[in-house]
Amino acid sequence: SAIPEVEALLAKMTLEEKIGQLNLLTPGGGAATGAVVSKNVEAKIKAGQVGGLFGVAGPKKVRQAQEMAVHHSRLKIPLLIGSDVIHGYKTTYPLPLGLSCSWDMALIQKAARMAASEATADGIMWNFSPMVDIARDARWGRIAEGAGEDPYLGSAIAKAMVTGYQGKDLKASNTMLACVKHFALYGASEAGRDYHSVDMSKIKMFNQYLPPYKAAVDAGVASVMTSFNDVHGVPATGNKWLLNTLLRERWDFEGFVVSDYTSLNEMIAHGLGDLQAVSKLALKAGLDMDMVGEGFLTTLSKSVKEGKVSEAEVTQACRRVLHAKYQAGLFEDPFRYLDADRPEKEILTPKNRALARKLATRSFVLLKNHANILPIKKTTKIALLGPLADSRNNMLGTWAPTGNPEFAVTVLEGFKNVAPQATLLYAKGANISDDTDFAKKVNVFGPRIQIEKRSSDALLQEALEVAEKADVIVAVIGEATEMSGEAASRTDISIPESQKKLIRALVATSKPVALVLMSGRPLTIPEEFDLPVAILQVWHPGVEAGNAIADVVFGDYNPAGKLTATWPRNVGQIPIYHSIKNTGRPAPEGNFEKFKSNYLDVPNTPLLPFGYGLSYTTFEYSDLILEKNEIGHGERLELTVKLTNTGNFDGEEIVQLYLRDVVRSITPPKRELKGFQKVFLKKGEQKKVVLTLKPEDLKFYNGDLNFVSEPGEFEVFVGTNSDCSLKKTFTLK
Ligand code: IFM
Repeated sequence: SAIPEVEALLAKMTLEEKIGQLNLLTPGGGAATGAVVSKNVEAKIKAGQVGGLFGVAGPKKVRQAQEMAVHHSRLKIPLLIGSDVIHGYKTTYPLPLGLSCSWDMALIQKAARMAASEATADGIMWNFSPMVDIARDARWGRIAEGAGEDPYLGSAIAKAMVTGYQGKDLKASNTMLACVKHFALYGASEAGRDYHSVDMSKIKMFNQYLPPYKAAVDAGVASVMTSFNDVHGVPATGNKWLLNTLLRERWDFEGFVVSDYTSLNEMIAHGLGDLQAVSKLALKAGLDMDMVGEGFLTTLSKSVKEGKVSEAEVTQACRRVLHAKYQAGLFEDPFRYLDADRPEKEILTPKNRALARKLATRSFVLLKNHANILPIKKTTKIALLGPLADSRNNMLGTWAPTGNPEFAVTVLEGFKNVAPQATLLYAKGANISDDTDFAKKVNVFGPRIQIEKRSSDALLQEALEVAEKADVIVAVIGEATEMSGEAASRTDISIPESQKKLIRALVATSKPVALVLMSGRPLTIPEEFDLPVAILQVWHPGVEAGNAIADVVFGDYNPAGKLTATWPRNVGQIPIYHSIKNTGRPAPEGNFEKFKSNYLDVPNTPLLPFGYGLSYTTFEYSDLILEKNEIGHGERLELTVKLTNTGNFDGEEIVQLYLRDVVRSITPPKRELKGFQKVFLKKGEQKKVVLTLKPEDLKFYNGDLNFVSEPGEFEVFVGTNSDCSLKKTFTLK
């Protein structure tokens, strides 16, 4: 709906000024993710050629920029100030894939709220988050930035984050505009190689990949960022079907669409024409703002003169950008986010750090606990080993451009803080990788992989000497921060050989070994998983890394995280995810059979299924009861299951519900997540857990892309992960 203030302003604007609002620049100095950095930014702002900026932070600097716009440009239109606040602003919390393993929507929303409060305290009112790209290929480095493989969970998380950032009132000085990205299907880049092509059927797209973007739109997200890839042969940035037909017409999105970093210009390399041609294509497709590439700024006025685009099309894009500025309250007060006292009072506060610590503990997934090695008594003599045990640079995780590794707590420090009575012996034991070429590529934002001058044999020897003196070994191993993230795809996602050697040697000492595993993606760890060890997956935990890891290792918190992306046995199984289809020739469970859908060399099953995660205690499921065996269209169905804590610790369990539509008009997945609940049980306690299937949980997009449910039989599975076997059936009339 038209906003009178915006319409009045539009009436005063020249074509050039309207085009200026479509231009998003970065003055550089931060972590640029492309070859181009904007030039002459100050002059362009004053000339009314800039609509927004990113890479500028702090009340003083943002004020300077804002003053250039509102004091020096003809129409005094304030700038939108954006930033990538992906997992916390300065109080960096676990990377999104880790956070998603908490399955805790209230906590995720709280995390986003904290990030928004800190970012706005530093003058930023627009966040390039949440990233909701479904990812089923762990080779893709950006799997770290999303919520994993599942559209149901991904949608819930998208909503929690959008509402967390945007709050109830976008004009409040501690809320910010969210930007859902990367629209669309970026996570399906072929072969897991970043920026690669995507080609996908509409049925798969609608059922598996689009729901989280739609959930963000339904939650009122203010903006959408296009993806780098093509969809049906047209790059997303110029894809009219995506931006107009789907996003605006079908989903009723009313906000504005921004390109990714130079993704408009990249349509030239995609093969769609010169800068003028691709800019025209993008504007007509529904793109409103051009990030960094200045294709709109430098060609649109010519295109209008040549009759290739109409001024009305430019005006419409400009209207949407101005609308966002209005929503953020910038026309009432362009300096509303600029209070010089706020950063000191609101950023990296003890309260925020405490939340980051809690979030980290909730993101950890206990993959294995041989002989209950974990938790460790606080009085133990511990050999703390591994290249990530004392590595401040690798705690924050990828794409934390506003965070600062210097503020991070190392594992060694965390152990000292949480267990001051323990005897701690430290040695590095191995380099993250011994490959200097590989290290050079990873170290673009700083020294993440530091290869020691000492030989790897000397490092190992030292670790073994230290291990010899200890009762328990804790080895902190895995990926360096920038081994995942943007432009960090890997074809081999195992633990680097340098560290494998260390692990083998430690296990050979016959002492109890706990592996604390860091990574931004699922790894292939069949060898390590077979060893008699404990494995605690901690992703990259953020600024409170060491404290949070110590909280869990020493049992102050009992881990409850569950994987949100399947862990394959080897890369050959990729893509692998829980909602696979049956096929016409399903393989018999566990056995190879010729002319069935299976492999000669590994089973079809993953190493670790979606939803998997252990606890220091044990849980037993029983008595799954459906309220009815038959329901009508539009009816809900309530289920109950008995959950008992049968172990020796209090703990939380994430109860999961999977559904299989047995017969339908398009081939159904074997099972799909359709409900979950996080439940706390004291040791020995039993609870009746109630889950509800809503009418839309039974629906899917059919061959005509209508969202329908079809009558017939459904199977319900409830349990501890996607491989659970407690089952009941019901019929939809
Ligand atoms: O928001 C990011 C995006 O995810 C990747 N390219 C750069 C953008 C702005 O930094």
